[in-house]
Amino acid sequence: MADGASAAAARTYKAADRPSSMQRRATSSPAAESGRSADAPPAATPNGSSAPSVTNIDSMRFRSILGRFAPGVVAITALDPESGVPTGLAANAFTSVSLDPPLVGFCVAHTSSTWPKLRGADRQCINILSEPQTEVCLQLAAKGGDKFAGLEWTTSPSGSPVLDGALAWIECSVEAEYAAGDHVIVVARVHHLDKHHDGEPLVFYKGGYGRFDG
Ligand SMILES: Cc1cc2nc3c(=O)[nH]c(=O)nc-3n(C[C@H](O)[C@H](O)[C@H](O)COP(=O)(O)O)c2cc1C
Repeated sequence: MADGASAAAARTYKAADRPSSMQRRATSSPAAESGRSADAPPAATPNGSSAPSVTNIDSMRFRSILGRFAPGVVAITALDPESGVPTGLAANAFTSVSLDPPLVGFCVAHTSSTWPKLRGADRQCINILSEPQTEVCLQLAAKGGDKFAGLEWTTSPSGSPVLDGALAWIECSVEAEYAAGDHVIVVARVHHLDKHHDGEPLVFYKGGYGRFDG
């Protein structure tokens, strides 16, 4: 997955043009949009270029292209079952999975040293980060050290850390894990959830952080 990292350049993504452009795409066929007849052979690529098919995808290219998808960022937190101290990691590979039963999913790198601690806890908490929480994200993404140094938090019903300033929290437990390349796909059952602070989401786009003006 496209694990984020560095640049913290603030960017703003506006909602203003989104509905009309989405509707335009939904009501016209690809052929009509490109101006070719429906039974004409397809163009080489959607933008008309004739880029060769790619069989060897290097990680820089993968990150660069996938970075054009703009997810939010969550902090996955728990109390380390061995030490009892709060810990966590930042993740942008997060999604809702199922309503009935309520399931969410996220992807964690095999190299994560924090995931084994989170996984060992009975419950984990997904904190949906807000736009002012870039520093919180970076602190939780750093390897080693006290992940929660200086962070304010309360607890979910089962005692998992809920970060001050998060837009919402979701308390869950690991339901299933699926190995997938260099990551594991985690499916987690939701036990409790609630909104927390009001605000705008932290958006991760092209390797940087921005906000969404809805
Ligand atoms: C914006 C952002 C998004 C990230 N998304 C993920 C992710 O989806 N999955 C993942 O395993 N790591 C992700 N990371 C990296 C982890 O937060 C963390 O750096 C990594 O787990 C290494 O720390 P650890 O050894 O303490 O686990 C992301 C980092 C950032 C800054």
